[in-house]
Amino acid sequence: MGNVVRKSFDANVFIEKQIIDIQQQTFGGRVLLALSGGVDSSVAAALLLKAIGKKLVCVHVDNGMMRKGESQQIFDMFDDQMGANLIYVDAAERFLTNLAGVSDPERKRKIIGEGFIRIFEEESKKLGCIKFLAQGTIYSDVVESGKGGAHAVKSHHNVGGLPIDLDFELVEPLKALYKDQVRECGLALGLPKEMVFRQPFPGPGLGVRCLGAITAERLTVARESDQILREGFSQDLAWQYFTVVPDIKSVGMRDGKRTHEHTVIIRAVDSTDAMTAVPIYPDWVLLRKVTERILEEVPGVNRVCYDLTPKPPGTIEWE
Ligand code: XMP
Repeated sequence: MGNVVRKSFDANVFIEKQIIDIQQQTFGGRVLLALSGGVDSSVAAALLLKAIGKKLVCVHVDNGMMRKGESQQIFDMFDDQMGANLIYVDAAERFLTNLAGVSDPERKRKIIGEGFIRIFEEESKKLGCIKFLAQGTIYSDVVESGKGGAHAVKSHHNVGGLPIDLDFELVEPLKALYKDQVRECGLALGLPKEMVFRQPFPGPGLGVRCLGAITAERLTVARESDQILREGFSQDLAWQYFTVVPDIKSVGMRDGKRTHEHTVIIRAVDSTDAMTAVPIYPDWVLLRKVTERILEEVPGVNRVCYDLTPKPPGTIEWE
């Protein structure tokens, strides 16, 4: 399926058509939905909830690489407010064990993607074998994973990371849409603005922002520094912003003593559809404030850098 024609996009028409398609594809069967809590999976969940109601079972897997407070927010929104069937799986230890010592970005993505699928299979068995798996895959995920003739840039975990022996039939209603169109659908489906305009967050989560082999310590640095950046920056400043923690340490000093600690890189870009991006030039005072907070509040960090790379040649995420 190619992407929809941009100019003629009407979210309400798209939603009505998808509701019919989903009902025809699933034909009264139950559907498991991988709810990461990112914009795409949240919009997919709202769409499927409208199409098949209680036949939808959302599964949120906490892989230990979520942003601060994220799992709780997902629960509040989908369980409490929207009344969706929601299962929470705490799999942090399992993922971190499987990823121990793995530094190749593609291997990391595949391990995380496969880890999710295995958990969905287990949950499906517990529930009495569910045939369908819904995902919030969007057009840029498909293109960058090298499907449809494009060269693989990276395996977006909901596409290229799928194991060959996948035991589900996929339901991917947003597959033809760009991010901005997904957001239009989210608003048309009645999702709150805070959710629709959330920061895009990759499926493998902080795992691809903690560069190289993941450690619990650097994951904490990534999570805490990301929270500080999100408190300091706002959506009208940049399309996406986050922090990255490379697997290097540098020398510094604190209270007159030598330190050898982690570096945090701030990345903030403007984009419309994630296919290309440009760095934003933030106000220096703001950047300094965020930097100072990270240096003071996140243990084990003695250096903060700002990334000025456009996409291409860089990608938005570092891995
Ligand atoms: P890149 O790094 O490819 O990112 O320039 C483009 C946009 O996609 C997000 N991203 C992902 N989203 N699964 C997703 O659902 C993934 O595996 C994934 N990897 C990157 C990234 O945050 C950016 O908004």
